[in-house]
Amino acid sequence: MELDQLVAKAREAMQRAYAPYSGYRVGAALLAEDGTVHTGCNVENASYGLTVCAETAAVANAVVRGARRYRRLAIVTEGPKAVAPCGACRQVLHEFAPELLVVSESDAERREWGLPELLPAPFGKQLVSGIRP
Ligand code: THU
Repeated sequence: MELDQLVAKAREAMQRAYAPYSGYRVGAALLAEDGTVHTGCNVENASYGLTVCAETAAVANAVVRGARRYRRLAIVTEGPKAVAPCGACRQVLHEFAPELLVVSESDAERREWGLPELLPAPFGKQLVSGIRP
């Protein structure tokens, strides 16, 4: 799948964001190694701390559909700045795709990062004993 198509999927997902408190809509699309695409949007809650980010929602969506290995993540937000995933989402992404490529598009720019530069010195499964597949 072309990068532009993946970004378009993230943009579609952004339209379904539930963000009545922040008004900040985020969409995400994960391209899995098997070529499938799994999307997510942010889902806020009246108990604010229960909010789920778009990237974490996309990972949960992918995992429940059987995809655990990812090549690329696209994020779309509104506003001038292309944003990188929040710290918690970086950790969630690292679990399944430590080398993930991340592309982020705002109204005004597109940026790309590798997850290793966003999450240096990661805590990961290799550090935990007794892990299961
Ligand atoms: N948000 C995401 O969906 N992903 C991020 O990486 C950063 C923040 C959402 C959470 C909340 O609904 C809104 O953006 C404002 O923080």
